[in-house]
Amino acid sequence: MSAGTAPAGPHAGNEGRAAGHVSVRDGAIRLGRGEAAFDVVEDIDLDISGRQFVCILGPSGCGKSTLLGAVAGHLALSRGSVSLDGSAVAGPHPDRGIVFQQHTLFPWLSVIDNVAFGLKMKGIGRRERLERARVLLAQVGLSDFGERYPAELSGGMQQRVEIARALINQPRVLLMDEPFGALDAQTRLTMQELLLDIWTQHQTTILFVTHDIDEALFLADRLIVMTPRPGRILDDIPLAFGRPRERGLITHPHFTAVKQRCLTLLQSAPGGVPLARLSPIGV
Ligand SMILES: Nc1ncnc2c1ncn2[C@@H]1O[C@H](COP(=O)(O)OP(=O)(O)O)[C@@H](O)[C@H]1O
Ligand SMILES: [Mg+2]
Repeated sequence: MSAGTAPAGPHAGNEGRAAGHVSVRDGAIRLGRGEAAFDVVEDIDLDISGRQFVCILGPSGCGKSTLLGAVAGHLALSRGSVSLDGSAVAGPHPDRGIVFQQHTLFPWLSVIDNVAFGLKMKGIGRRERLERARVLLAQVGLSDFGERYPAELSGGMQQRVEIARALINQPRVLLMDEPFGALDAQTRLTMQELLLDIWTQHQTTILFVTHDIDEALFLADRLIVMTPRPGRILDDIPLAFGRPRERGLITHPHFTAVKQRCLTLLQSAPGGVPLARLSPIGV
């Protein structure tokens, strides 16, 4: 689409945006020094197409957050390379938005100023910032909360603000590290559905870390299963479930089969993960 015919709306201004293809080549991360040094992840080769929703699943401590941190540019690989649309990742950039489990909102700024913050950093004037922040707040269902402060919001609402704040920069990839891990079960399900709606509207690549198999299966186009530390890719499973996703999916034989495969993989991996450390089977 040419710039002259760009529509207004959630994709306005995104037309020239590159696809969001993430590539990790022979990636390894070693942390610590001297005798205390240890390998966190190894042999990571990963190609994620633009606009794909990929979940990374693995036991606690297997290096999921560390790997995501390397894609974010927060830490460097010890070996190999990470690139986004062919350009090497050399540090953090708003092209790669991040949402963590813990809240990172500025408590002294109102919700709308938190959302608009990235635009302020880009030198965009207050009026345009607030206009664009309002669009995002509406998309995450918080139109009436722009003037509130983070501490006045529930955990789920704060995560909505975090998502809006990352998306205002029109990132090519959204990196999410167990973003719903601290939410109660019902809020978590609501947030999963909200995220799928948002992803459909924004058409960004999502790399989503979780240790919850049901969550991964509900959200993703593709599942990367990791071994215990040093984390390696144990399996790469395409998920062909239709979209929009329905909650009834959990009774689908293919869902049950993939879930069983994940559980078996995680249990049989070197250093075996006891079932008790994984999410319970069933609903
Ligand atoms: N900055 C660091 N220094 C030392 N060890 C770390 C650091 N960050 C993470 N680790 C260790 O690396 C391993 C992987 O951590 P992490 O990536 O947080 O795992 P996950 O997200 O899969 O639970 C863990 O054993 C953790 O204790
Ligand atoms: Mg983690």
